[in-house]
Amino acid sequence: MRPEFATSLARAAAGRELEREDIIALLGAAPGADADALFRQADDVRARMAGEEVHLRGIIEFSNYCRRRCYYCGLRADNAKLHRYRLMPEDIIAAARQGAELGYGTVVLQSGEDPWYTAPILAGVIREIKKLGVAVTLCVGERPREEYARWREAGADRYLLKHETANEELYARLHPGMSWQERLQCLIWLKELGYQVGSGNIIGLPGQTLADLADDLLLLRQLDVEMAGLGPFIPHPDTPLGGEPAGSAELTYRVVAVARLVIPYAHLPATTALGTLAANGRQLALTRGANVIMPNITPTEYRPDYQIYPNKICVNEGPEDCRHCLEGMVRSLGRRLGRGPGHTLKQFMAATI
Ligand code: 5AD
Ligand code: FES
Repeated sequence: MRPEFATSLARAAAGRELEREDIIALLGAAPGADADALFRQADDVRARMAGEEVHLRGIIEFSNYCRRRCYYCGLRADNAKLHRYRLMPEDIIAAARQGAELGYGTVVLQSGEDPWYTAPILAGVIREIKKLGVAVTLCVGERPREEYARWREAGADRYLLKHETANEELYARLHPGMSWQERLQCLIWLKELGYQVGSGNIIGLPGQTLADLADDLLLLRQLDVEMAGLGPFIPHPDTPLGGEPAGSAELTYRVVAVARLVIPYAHLPATTALGTLAANGRQLALTRGANVIMPNITPTEYRPDYQIYPNKICVNEGPEDCRHCLEGMVRSLGRRLGRGPGHTLKQFMAATI
């Protein structure tokens, strides 16, 4: 083992708070013995903090209209090649009902930043879905505080807003017309309003360093997030970053594993982007720190158009297919499907420490 790596892993094993330099050393784990030791430790912490349950969050991608122009994303407003769609409120509710019937304890409502869905429209959708007895996670981008408040009153439990990168300069380059400070402000509002907050970042963005990724994890710790989505960059040909190389699956596993050590109580999904980049990516992530999967419950006809990145998995499957696929995946790993909403793990922290 490399000495700095061994020291930092020992600090993590002793339950010491990891410093930036520790995190950088762990993220740089050499393939082979070092990375394997990191993965084992992450799996051990996952077992203690999150147990053997894998929570499934059914995700409905209800609109691919987006007013933003993020350089990496296929839904960006400038992508004229994309066929755009919007699900009507009753269709969103029907998809959520199907998710509840499939046994999912959480429904995630995700879209591009689409102002067509005003605060009252989405509040109505949330109220109807809450009647199904599931937790509701929103993932619809930056909105005024009053709108977040209104949706919380309507019953929304969680909000997912990735910070995308903690490097402010890189953020500014990739997000024309957007501000890193404003995004952080949104995250703070969401916490104040009592949402369980998820954030996260993209791994392998052009020009991103291990130190940047360490800063991502430090920011997630500082924000005290309940969930962190950590997925690899996948270039989309119809975006300004279309010619850039993809992020690496190996680096993504290491980020997930180190995240489990830095924010042990957080829910960490094995992301769809990782499953797209590597055939067994989600399985491996589940054995290296992750404890959540987000199966798609979008009606199949719309799936090909929710092209955040190309070759996304599950595009030709239906909600039942993904349910069966994931049940088999979770069982094959010797784990079990989560029951109930799978709320924050923080309530278990006091008992565990
Ligand atoms: N590769 C990987 N992830 C992407 N996202 C958007 N575009 C890409 C891409 N090309 C992620 C962002 C966003 C989430 C919905 O999808 O992190 O928050
Ligand atoms: Fe959709 Fe496997 S999760 S087919």
